Amino acid sequence: MLSQKSRPVIEQTIGVIAERIPAITPEFYKSMFNARPDLLDGMFSRSNQKNGTQPQALAGSIAAFASHLLNHPDSYPDEVLSRVAHKHASLGLLPEEYPTVHEHLFGAIAADLGDAATPEVVAAWDEVYWLMADALIKLEKGLYGQQANDVMFAPFRLVSKEDIAEGVVAFEFEPADDTPLTRSIPGQYVTIQVKVKDGIRQPRQFTLVPSQEGHRRVVIRKDPHGEVTPILHEDINEGDVLEISNPYGDVVLDEGHGSLVLASAGIGTTPIVAFLDRLAKEGSQRKVTVLHADHSKERWPGRQIMERLVDSLPNATMITWMETPGEGDHEGFMNIADVDLDVDEDTNAFMCGPLPFMKALRSQLIEKGVPGRNIHYEIFGPDQWMLHDEARAA
Ligand code: FAD
Ligand code: HEM
Repeated sequence: MLSQKSRPVIEQTIGVIAERIPAITPEFYKSMFNARPDLLDGMFSRSNQKNGTQPQALAGSIAAFASHLLNHPDSYPDEVLSRVAHKHASLGLLPEEYPTVHEHLFGAIAADLGDAATPEVVAAWDEVYWLMADALIKLEKGLYGQQANDVMFAPFRLVSKEDIAEGVVAFEFEPADDTPLTRSIPGQYVTIQVKVKDGIRQPRQFTLVPSQEGHRRVVIRKDPHGEVTPILHEDINEGDVLEISNPYGDVVLDEGHGSLVLASAGIGTTPIVAFLDRLAKEGSQRKVTVLHADHSKERWPGRQIMERLVDSLPNATMITWMETPGEGDHEGFMNIADVDLDVDEDTNAFMCGPLPFMKALRSQLIEKGVPGRNIHYEIFGPDQWMLHDEARAA
């Protein structure tokens, strides 16, 4: 809980800090990477730095955390902390690194605020930082404790590589040493490290899809402008060994019996396939509506497996939207306004795809009567949406 001393200071300064975050973050990262260039080798994604999504997510989350402490003094924003801790754990982040971010973030804040960064202001924000850092460190320790091994990454050998849709390849790996394999929960992801052109390692997350027992399987869409996926598609071949993390991620199926809406667009099918496979293996009787939007049937990753799994579930149906005329049940972008969806208070919805797709669908699901708290999403990049109440509101 925030101390009585810091509370009024945070109330007075949260506006200015939130407003200055976009200016503070570039300076923070510049100074941190100057001092610690090794953090760009295996820890931070260079592209997320360049396209600006990650810097805003990290620093923005501290302002969001402070605002939560002011509005709900007796609780923490558990969803935000959990999502960040899972991402950190997938990268093998250790507590020793927290002072590094602290030093450079607070250096940048002090430089930006100038005289306004009085000792009281700095002390109050210091308190917020360490409350959040301690909460994350505790969660991350708990996550590491659940692993079947005590390493952050282990070597895995590529055993098969298969084209499954236009620009989409499935990679199946087997352990390349005797590190015990941590069991994954359907919906979770791993971080894969790849050596890029200039020799540094770049980490990227990929959702696990059903595989042979003891293997890891991922389905990857090539981003032609990306740093890692073109290398995976073109230069990594059967027999090659890559470093892969333990599985993490908190977007997993609820344990209830209510109906489910599973919605994806493009490569967002990967967690949905993992969910459908789990439901099929459990012999689930739940009512499941699968919604998928894509450019065309050719581009739809995992079409065959999704069709097969939906067929095998007694109460599942699938509705599609394809931009290519005549290929889906509906033409164009997904819009469920005119679709007869059987949803109620107990329905849980899971979505994965581009942010604009998920934002639009969330509003439509709420219109249909799905409670906001039951709408879950996985985002294939740093999550900036979670910092806004609209992503969580009931
Ligand atoms: P990156 O190098 O990360 O580039 C991404 C984008 O950044 C590019 O389009 C590029 O245009 C832009 N960019 C790069 N440099 C600059 C610059 N200088 N200025 C402006 N923009 C720039 N992907 C899958 O295919 N399958 C999955 O199952 C999957 N699951 C995921 C699960 C999670 C939890 C997360 C977080 C992500 C997942 N992803 C998945 C996405 C994946 O991790 C990668 O982000 C994605 O594949 C792109 O990687 P890349 O290295 O090729 O591109
Ligand atoms: C990702 C917050 C400390 C490294 C993130 C994200 C947030 C965040 C919000 C985005 C999560 C997502 O992907 O959705 C914080 C906060 C911290 C903290 C509030 C301190 C209180 C650290 C430290 C390090 C670190 C100490 C390492 C030095 C990373 C990395 C990512 C990340 C590498 C993923 C970035 C990417 O791939 O683009 N963090 N973080 N974080 N964080 Fe932290």
